Amino acid sequence: MDIELAKQEFTSFANLYLSKEDKKSSDYKNSLRKYNHSFRVMNLSEKIAQSLELPKEEIELMKLCGLLHDIGRFEQGMKYHIFEDQKSIDHGDLGAEILKKDNLINKFAMTNQQDIIKVVKYHNKYIIPKTLPTKTRFYIDIIRDADKIDILYSLSTEELIYENDNKTISDEIFKQIKKKELVNKINIQSSIDWVVVDLAFVFDLKFKKSFEIMKEKNYHNKIINIYSKKIKKKDDLKKLEEIRILINNYIEEMLTC
Ligand SMILES: [Fe+2]
Repeated sequence: MDIELAKQEFTSFANLYLSKEDKKSSDYKNSLRKYNHSFRVMNLSEKIAQSLELPKEEIELMKLCGLLHDIGRFEQGMKYHIFEDQKSIDHGDLGAEILKKDNLINKFAMTNQQDIIKVVKYHNKYIIPKTLPTKTRFYIDIIRDADKIDILYSLSTEELIYENDNKTISDEIFKQIKKKELVNKINIQSSIDWVVVDLAFVFDLKFKKSFEIMKEKNYHNKIINIYSKKIKKKDDLKKLEEIRILINNYIEEMLTC
């Protein structure tokens, strides 16, 4: 496994899609955003793997999985012009199929291919099958943490923006985040629901390093500050403040245990 070669192959793959789009189009910008996200998730996966003191080969494997986890996004964007899986296709399943098709995966690695395909397939699932081997599940958890942290980064820098549709935080979404658990996307009804769903990612993080990054970078507080300025309904502002306290306390809790 040569990560430098894999980066080149990934860039060539992404360019097959990017080169077909008009550089001013939102499809191009969205795909480019996913391309940059892939590299950042690769770096975050490396950091988490290092913190777990994994052997060098496994750190390389985690970097590769981070780089490839969203490989299905380019096809999804080109075909459906949208990244919402519920309205198009499951991008984890699609990515796994793309890697298997014509043995594209051979371009990235000749070893651990099954693990890589499984990480790509399951990285975005609300529920992960319990039947997966423990090690595979462990790899999936690393990539899921890295992915979630980078989505929160994107929101905190407004690289990713949920445009205000003047709707409120849905009851079901708020009820779920208050349970300090991952919120199911099927209940999303407004743009601010998307923000809450993403903030709830913190409650699904698995590794201490991930909480250290969250505390250091403060993405959740930056996001809440941004959206508190955008929304006008007092009830929602109050809910966001409740969520802020919930997340800050949870991060502290996870860092002390
Ligand atoms: Fe991702």
